[in-house]
Amino acid sequence: MTPRLPPKLLYGGDYNPEQWPESVWLEDVRLMRAAGVNIVSLGIFSWARLQPSEKRFDFGWLDRVMDLLAKNGISVCLATATASPPPWLTRKYPGVLPVTADGVTLQVGSRQQYSPSSPVYKKFAAALVRKLAQRYRRHSALASWHINNEYACHLPECHNADSTRAFRAWLRAKYRTLAALNDAWGTAFWSQAYGDWAEIFTPRRAPYHCNPTQCLDFKRFTSDAFLALYRMEAAILRAATPAIPLTTNFMGFFKPLDYRAWAPEIDYVAWDSYPDPVDEAAARHAGAVGHDLMRSLKPGRPFVLMEQAPSAVNWRSVNLPKRPGIMRLQSLQTVARGGDGVMFFQWRASKAGAEKFHSGLLPHVPPKQSRVFAEVTALGAELKKLTPVAGSLVRNRVAIAFDWHAWWAVELESKPGRIDYAAWAQSLHRWFYQKNIGVDFVHPGAELAGYDLVVAPALYLLTKQAAANLTAFTARGGTLLATYFSGIVDEHEHIVLGGYPALLRQALGLWVEEWAPYPDGRTNGVRLGGRKFTCDHWCDLLHLEGAKPLATYTGDFFAGRPAVTRHRHGRGTAYYLGTRLDAAGLDALLLRVTKTAGVKAPLRAPAGVEITRRDAKRGQFLFALNHTGRPARISLGKYRGTNLLTGRSTARTLTLAPLDAAVIQLKR
Ligand code: GAL
Repeated sequence: MTPRLPPKLLYGGDYNPEQWPESVWLEDVRLMRAAGVNIVSLGIFSWARLQPSEKRFDFGWLDRVMDLLAKNGISVCLATATASPPPWLTRKYPGVLPVTADGVTLQVGSRQQYSPSSPVYKKFAAALVRKLAQRYRRHSALASWHINNEYACHLPECHNADSTRAFRAWLRAKYRTLAALNDAWGTAFWSQAYGDWAEIFTPRRAPYHCNPTQCLDFKRFTSDAFLALYRMEAAILRAATPAIPLTTNFMGFFKPLDYRAWAPEIDYVAWDSYPDPVDEAAARHAGAVGHDLMRSLKPGRPFVLMEQAPSAVNWRSVNLPKRPGIMRLQSLQTVARGGDGVMFFQWRASKAGAEKFHSGLLPHVPPKQSRVFAEVTALGAELKKLTPVAGSLVRNRVAIAFDWHAWWAVELESKPGRIDYAAWAQSLHRWFYQKNIGVDFVHPGAELAGYDLVVAPALYLLTKQAAANLTAFTARGGTLLATYFSGIVDEHEHIVLGGYPALLRQALGLWVEEWAPYPDGRTNGVRLGGRKFTCDHWCDLLHLEGAKPLATYTGDFFAGRPAVTRHRHGRGTAYYLGTRLDAAGLDALLLRVTKTAGVKAPLRAPAGVEITRRDAKRGQFLFALNHTGRPARISLGKYRGTNLLTGRSTARTLTLAPLDAAVIQLKR
């Protein structure tokens, strides 16, 4: 059995008591209790304090904080403190420092200054984790381990000597022979053939385009190298505390790490979400799509929002605060989309250091006079009322096929046009979000039996197995919507010949002869269902072999040729979108696609009102969030129950004030 978190909604944030005199700690816990805080992430950047020199450890202060928190009923998500090595370590062992593709060594004085492949870093990190595990394994405050912090956040790759050695070892394990590597990397091109493993380097700055398969393998290697660090710490903690859940904080659509490979190793997904408050509509979608991606990594288990900002951050050039009500609504959105924890960076706003202008739950001003702290306290009380929701799950019938390897590959250099893979997936997700149709993100090769509709945006790199999986899904009765530049290369980034997208030809009933990627600002038109829409970015030139045209281009040398198609395959239907449609065109198409698939929202709601459902054996919960500045009236249809936030039974119509929300526990 995978260890679990306590069955409640977690509320709290990063707690950095080492930045404050001990006299402040008492006030901290008093205010935490007043705010309803029930958990803190402790010690994330404490390495230098815990180990002031190579041979000296100091756990006394941490013992006192742990005891104080336990005494006050506050749980601890205890960090392993390995995210920022202390200065003495890299002074004595400078080889630990990471190096960029340009050969620049990243120095001490910030954080994350270690190579993921450094044996010295690993040795010291493991020793620290062992000590922490031994010391706190039986502590009553310990509820979870927080391994490292945001792996690879500031350091997406490293090219130092340790990384070079480790990359070679990774390649040897993968390819066994240089002949296999030369073949996979296509080194017959540009005289790149390798005759010795020692000739191979990480893809450092070179005169011109780097070998794409080398670059792709380096991304895989880097994700694996960080995962190996996580595994090393996890093994130590697992052995010492088998019943305590382990996690590390993910970062949503974070390209350097293939979180899908990480997900089986963590006990629950935790992630950090920092949408820019400048554009509230964009921020609420960014939150939603991030939650959906993160939740999907571990279906069957609620996730925890490990960090969000109570108000402003400090790291954009201009940092707008969240206006009143937004932090609450974003927190409720987290729960609405499957979160069992709402946590923040950080508890008390720092007085010194690079993050002193980052908002905290407890700002610099006296708490009694703080608008933010008042909202924090109110939210703590509300989350307590939502305790029955904990453990319930979000279940969806629509999935977006999303794969980190496809992401890495499609964004390598020297492509026909520029595709922002995550943005394209997110823009398709946005349509479903606005319609309140729930979406999961899945690997294209994953079990798809639970879904009626799978959307595959620019699935450029596609394995035989994944292509067969999507084809079988369609044949069995599913609805597939694939878009341009899907199924072009195999796992080595070699073109699959035989007419693009060779492996999906059968399902889609078409092949692509050429494409016309457009520069920004250039457009074409399509005629779809008797209406005209604009399209841009990319135009595929299709040949149909069974598919029926739904839309045709109105301009360019391929005017009159199909742009969007529909194909009956087995018992299902495969749609193909060969271009990027404007909002109205996409709406027309997706209305049709979702009708074919038979998927719809739980109920109709005015624009800007977010509706979701969470289900458990013991009950079902309907969430309604009014993101607009106007009161919203929602006809609840068959849904009746009690609004957990007000304690009142619902009527046929629910009226929500601007930025207000309801969480309705449904009648059985
Ligand atoms: C996160 C990080 C925190 C803090 C926060 C500020 O990326 O994990 O330690 O720096 O950002 O927004």
